Amino acid sequence: MTNAGGRIVAVAGGSGFIGRAIARRLAESAGTTVRVLTRNPERARARFAAAPGNLEFAAADVTAGAGLAEVLAGAAAVVNAAQFDGYPIENPARGLTFERVDYGGTVALIAAARAAGAGRFIYISGAAANENSAVAAFRCKGRAERALRESGVDFAIFRPSLVYGPEDRVVNGIAKALKFAPVMIVPGSGRQRMQPLLVDDLAACVALAADGRGRNGIFEIGGPDLMTFDDLTRLVMELTGRQRPLIHLPEAALRAAGRIAELLPGAWFSRDAVDFLVADNACAIAPLLAEFKIALTPARSGLKYLAAN
Ligand SMILES: NC(=O)c1ccc[n+]([C@@H]2O[C@H](COP(=O)([O-])OP(=O)(O)OC[C@H]3O[C@@H](n4cnc5c(N)ncnc54)[C@H](OP(=O)(O)O)[C@@H]3O)[C@@H](O)[C@H]2O)c1
Repeated sequence: MTNAGGRIVAVAGGSGFIGRAIARRLAESAGTTVRVLTRNPERARARFAAAPGNLEFAAADVTAGAGLAEVLAGAAAVVNAAQFDGYPIENPARGLTFERVDYGGTVALIAAARAAGAGRFIYISGAAANENSAVAAFRCKGRAERALRESGVDFAIFRPSLVYGPEDRVVNGIAKALKFAPVMIVPGSGRQRMQPLLVDDLAACVALAADGRGRNGIFEIGGPDLMTFDDLTRLVMELTGRQRPLIHLPEAALRAAGRIAELLPGAWFSRDAVDFLVADNACAIAPLLAEFKIALTPARSGLKYLAAN
């Protein structure tokens, strides 16, 4: 591994949707080498259209524990944006669970960061993080946050609402469905709240945190527009020029489908996925704005790229 001078920032999950945006943003900082931790460096490198010279790729599995400290050697800061394949649908048979990858992986990375002498740890949590939640996804994020708060390592925790961008799955999934479906199916009442956040805004805050901003703080982070799932779907319809009637699929029906799907092979749906779909993702962003002084992108302008597709 190389470091052309200056500091190294390691990004676990740096090949993922949010991690790529963070890695790209960090790589823009002069004197920074970004080390993307990935289970497959070659595949990860291919996910960056033109990888800048100060981006390097290191093999690491956050569930393995062993070897993580070596991979973090020389890192001044560590960002954790790793999440298991196929999330939020767990597949315990393959070890793809929030407990093992999100909570366990974060704990292992914190220990490795300490061992490697990294001065700062930034964790991408979630708006609904709560260590007492009955939902594994939210509980594991809450427990990972606690592990970090109690680790003695300087930290910054971000709790994003729904994150979107040209490479996301959710908003692009809605836009793709609109191309083919005569009606648009919305999970639950459609009244679940969110503040869609442009991934570049999250990346900008993480880059500031890597420089020391938001020391030992927990920041809810969402876009400036508080909207419902229905509002977001209507905005995507407007921007793509594809109007469809909205059909709401009741939560009870979704849960029944989740229960059945959990009994079948393939892990294509689950009750946990329902919890994700119907969760309230509103954010209190005043502390973030006060600390990071960022102009968050309004959804209508951040989603403009949809019009081109
Ligand atoms: N997307 C959202 O709207 C949103 C909102 C709130 C919070 N979050 C949180 O933000 C984080 C990032 O989400 P995302 O949507 O960017 O996820 P993603 O696109 O699925 O990326 C996750 C990355 O984690 C890496 N990974 C998976 N298992 C790993 C392991 N065992 N060891 C090391 N790396 C592993 C994968 O990289 P390799 O395959 O290269 O190893 C993958 O690129 C997650 O914690 C998620 O819960 C996301």
